[in-house]
Amino acid sequence: MTLEEAKKRIEELRELIRYHDYKYYVLNSPEISDSEYDNLFRELVELEKKFPELFTPDSPTQRVSGKVAEGFREIKHLFTMYSLANVQTYEEFLEFVKRTTKNLGVDNVEFTVEPKFDGLAVEIIYRDGILDVASTRGDGEVGEDVTNNVKTIRNVPLSIPIKEEIAVYGEVVMHREDFIKLNEERESEGEPVFANPRNAAAGSLRQLDPSITSKRKLRFYAYYLRSNTFNVEKQSEIIETLSIWKFSTPKYIVSSNPEEIYLYYTQIEKERPNIPYDIDGIVVKVNNVEYHRILGEVGRDVRWAIAWKFKPEQKVTKVKNIIVQVGRTGVLTPVAELEPVEIKGATISRVSLHNYDEIKRLGLKIGDKVVVERSGDVIPYISKVLIEERDGTEIDIEVPKSCPVCSGKVEKLGDEVAYRCINASCKAQALERIKYAISKGKFDIVGLGDEIVEKLFDLGYVKDIADVFSLDARKLFLAGVGEKNALKIYESIQKSKLIDYDKFITALGIRYVGEQTAKLLAHKFIPIDRLINVRLEELLEIKGIGDVVANSIYKFFRDENNVKLIRKMLENGVKIIYPTEEKESPISGKTIVVTGSLKNFSRQDIINLITKLGGKVSETVSSKVDFVIVGESPGSKYTKAKELGIKTISEEEFISLTGKTLTELLNMIKGKSDELTLF
Ligand code: IVH
Repeated sequence: MTLEEAKKRIEELRELIRYHDYKYYVLNSPEISDSEYDNLFRELVELEKKFPELFTPDSPTQRVSGKVAEGFREIKHLFTMYSLANVQTYEEFLEFVKRTTKNLGVDNVEFTVEPKFDGLAVEIIYRDGILDVASTRGDGEVGEDVTNNVKTIRNVPLSIPIKEEIAVYGEVVMHREDFIKLNEERESEGEPVFANPRNAAAGSLRQLDPSITSKRKLRFYAYYLRSNTFNVEKQSEIIETLSIWKFSTPKYIVSSNPEEIYLYYTQIEKERPNIPYDIDGIVVKVNNVEYHRILGEVGRDVRWAIAWKFKPEQKVTKVKNIIVQVGRTGVLTPVAELEPVEIKGATISRVSLHNYDEIKRLGLKIGDKVVVERSGDVIPYISKVLIEERDGTEIDIEVPKSCPVCSGKVEKLGDEVAYRCINASCKAQALERIKYAISKGKFDIVGLGDEIVEKLFDLGYVKDIADVFSLDARKLFLAGVGEKNALKIYESIQKSKLIDYDKFITALGIRYVGEQTAKLLAHKFIPIDRLINVRLEELLEIKGIGDVVANSIYKFFRDENNVKLIRKMLENGVKIIYPTEEKESPISGKTIVVTGSLKNFSRQDIINLITKLGGKVSETVSSKVDFVIVGESPGSKYTKAKELGIKTISEEEFISLTGKTLTELLNMIKGKSDELTLF
């Protein structure tokens, strides 16, 4: 490849990756699958390695290349990061409105109303259009340098389309869904879990190794900007401008009517469970930016905006008992049984305490009165023990000496936080392994809920995940599933048998092997027997897999029970779809453009298919394109192909070129559409 060609392809790839980042992280509507994205990314990394002269600081690859720091450098903020004063009630809010109107000497003030994000405030400075420095709030004057960490956040633009020095302010948060996933992973790895998404976001951003931050799925929502040269007249324009620059921004309304603002407050409070991140109130800001300067600050707080917090959703109740749940890796999780309390419409009778360190941290005893809160209206947790309410009858909580399910031995390994049941044939572990394997992101068997699995297990029909694939409607029926439902579940099981290699690996439940690591393995060790027989050194060679993980994988496949289980799954009809089926196909390495509508494939289907077959889909016709698939009513791409003398083929010709039948091709992309709408 010449330098000229590399430059063109690199630019094309950067543009594509930016486009897909934006679709996925800002617009929430991904167009391509994760593996297609990974392929684009990998190609770019390799080309940039080969042609270092083509480096630019805003390349998407810069999101992952930050070095491990020894400590956090201090950064002086470009502008002081002020805070917001709080109000709790409508009356207090009206006072703010009155005060502001009076201070400005006007009759009526226009406000914007935005959600108040419950995350970490960050300042990001752009110079010459490039992200230069990012820092945490610190004391408002000086914060910690988290530039490399912030660069890993995919919805933070690495460049903006203006050259002036700009400070963008916003909040780093973790979506609740990602927080739950992260905690599940940490729990199974015996690491302490985070109490709420805010703490998880903080812990993830303040990492000396940015590669850890990059795995944590943080998001940034931009709500304010300042500059000495770039002027915007209104707060609403600030948000619109940030949005045009491709930041994620809050939804907002503009209003000068306090009653309308109150209505918005109540509406957004109701909406909390449906918002993917935690918010703890609304922020009301004077819309006219000139007024911001006039009103200025008092102490740490600006006078042009106010935070109107939601009433804390907490209740006091009593811990009746502690029960212990046993996870798929044997981790013992203490759960508090409560005297039921209603918090915002839901009755809470149990909360997870995550681990025994958390019990120690809270200083909790059985019989204690506690404050229970729901983070973002969703996840309940104990925020405080009311020690002053004790009457001496409270009982200390002990770590169980044996497994509450199988009576097996309990151990705490090394410096792990978790205590584990170490009996490999513990019933609780077996059940949890099955539940894990059939869940989303693994076999994804819809309808086969926990209760049914437990029944099937007790009846002896399902002892491990492989047995699930030999279930028939009759057994489901005998387990108490209604006829119609049994058929549905049966169908779902049949569908799940065709599974992508990486999901299959994830489903095995190997300790420390989540989706990301499974993907690395799926690309490297094909077919499954290669993985079963993998040598430890081979695992250690893989970038992204450390000592502990490599040893865990190696050990897993040395256990003949695990290997037997894999064979049994295959015998029961599980068919793994390997990423290589693609690579050796006649489409492999080809760059293809599609134009017009096809008879057998939707646009997304054909893109998935070509990528699965190892080809690349290009949006534009250029001399690099190998051929153009032409459907009905083709567009300008067809004319362009003719002009450039690029080969055009029909849909039928494409099918025969793959060497596969239409059914085989359709099977290859089956299930893909689910994955794409998952987000
Ligand atoms: S504007 C001068 N807008 O709440 C303050 N802040 O308690 C400019 N926050 O420090 C900030 N959501 O960290 C603003 N939509 C929003 C916000 C927001 C959350 C945070 C921010 C601020 C804190 C005040």
